[in-house]
Amino acid sequence: MTQPLSLDLPSSPTPAAPPAGDWDEPATGSAGAPDARLIAQMANALFNTQPGHSQPSIGVAPPSLPPVEAPAEVDFGNVANLLGGIVRLVPPEHGVEPAPPPLPPDPSLPASPLLAIELRPELIPDLRGTGAHGGAFDAHTVRRDFPILNQQVHGKPLIWLDNAATTQKPRQVIERLKRYYEFENSNIHRAAHTLAARSTDAYEAAREKTRRFLNAGSTEEIVFVRGATEGINLIAKAWGERNVREGDEIVVTWLEHHANIVPWQQLAARVGAKLRVAPVDDSGQIILEEYEKLLNPRTRLVSLTQVSNALGTITPAAEMTAMAHRHGATVLVDGAQAVSHMAVDVQALGCDFYVFSGHKVFAPTGIGAVYGRKAVLDQMPPWQGGGNMIADVTFEKTVFQPAPARFEAGTGNIADAVGLGAAIDYVEAIGLHIIDAWEHQLLDYGTQGLLTIPGLRLIGTAREKAGVLSFVIDGCRTEDIGKALNSEGIAVRSGHHCAQPILRRFGVEATVRPSLAFYNTFEDLDALVNALRRFQSGHGGRGA
Ligand code: ALA
Repeated sequence: MTQPLSLDLPSSPTPAAPPAGDWDEPATGSAGAPDARLIAQMANALFNTQPGHSQPSIGVAPPSLPPVEAPAEVDFGNVANLLGGIVRLVPPEHGVEPAPPPLPPDPSLPASPLLAIELRPELIPDLRGTGAHGGAFDAHTVRRDFPILNQQVHGKPLIWLDNAATTQKPRQVIERLKRYYEFENSNIHRAAHTLAARSTDAYEAAREKTRRFLNAGSTEEIVFVRGATEGINLIAKAWGERNVREGDEIVVTWLEHHANIVPWQQLAARVGAKLRVAPVDDSGQIILEEYEKLLNPRTRLVSLTQVSNALGTITPAAEMTAMAHRHGATVLVDGAQAVSHMAVDVQALGCDFYVFSGHKVFAPTGIGAVYGRKAVLDQMPPWQGGGNMIADVTFEKTVFQPAPARFEAGTGNIADAVGLGAAIDYVEAIGLHIIDAWEHQLLDYGTQGLLTIPGLRLIGTAREKAGVLSFVIDGCRTEDIGKALNSEGIAVRSGHHCAQPILRRFGVEATVRPSLAFYNTFEDLDALVNALRRFQSGHGGRGA
């Protein structure tokens, strides 16, 4: 059922910008020159004609553009052609989440031969110049995807600057969860019925999206867990107890979250190994020469964060991994605070393990992933026993599944894994490089603003930073600052951020920590700085 394409395209409000440099297949046809807004609208229109097909598994750039009215008679092949390679039609077995099952059919819509659509965000031009501040994209528009941001707290518009603790969820993720529970919910890998097939497909599609997100080589290298903390504990148990022995050494850095300290302390105590700590300089960056001095033939593992949750420091993780490998050590990178701010490539990092939490990257809580290099995972015993992870059980003996099932005992968090897949689609559709560039503008702007506050000291001033603006103010309790900001609708974390050693390295027990996501704006940071000024004047000024 193919009919001529007849999309009624709105004219672009501004002359179409020349395509950004990474266009290698410009759109052609009646759409004329490629225009990101137009393309996004067309993509939206296309996706919205799919009965029951929610946007999240598709994504557009930017995802929040209002859809145009699409006539029912759409030839999807022609649309894909018209979009000049921005979308392509692919069968579901190619690792893309299959189109949803034939949900209550809408008789006004045509049956479609389309199985699945994959958006190719890497081919979408940046929306440079469209942001309110001339940035790469318009955060004001994108934030409309986040219903929770559209509320008042204490009579003031909510300003969410606690993204390092958790990020908010776009409606595309929320709707994906709803769709899962309304039409797909079932246990996975266990039954021949239709819903089991749907949920298994959705769960495994999320694993493929996670693989793609991290640029892992295979889905066999992706294990779903509750989050980064559980991932590190899995590695400490399954890998650590087999590979770390008495007299061995585990190296962490001074920047680590407690989740990347405590499991290693516990392992070291169990097996008689030693924990060693790479120091940082006064900006909060790791001193590489000192780190290198810690590496020796007894070093079994280096476990380091990619981005510090308390200071925002971006560590030279690839370089540190290569240094560790030269000494024969295995390397784990904690990506909990990195994944929402920058593109991650585990193959480029060269690490053996990588962990992250979905809730830090706009996905639900209670889901995250461990990447483990296949050769390493294949050598690891399971860490928990139960269903789903076995090939055969008798009372004498159990044969385990290979990875990743071997590490996923019991019924996992299926729905939230699917939600994670939707969140990955969402950020990839915007583009991690666009997010990175926008947040760096915010970080610079926020830093300048905060430095105008008398008595304010930034904790963490490394040249390479992401997402975090930790500070203290002379004479003011961080808890009081947090409460004052809350009374103005501004959410930040104040406290030790589960990273006491690094705060103590800077002589403090707590900081105030505004932390960023791509939906934050310059106005949010202006509001923060103005609220701090008011707090100070109400507090008797500097040193009160
Ligand atoms: N790890 C989270 C934070 O840094 C909870 O706030």
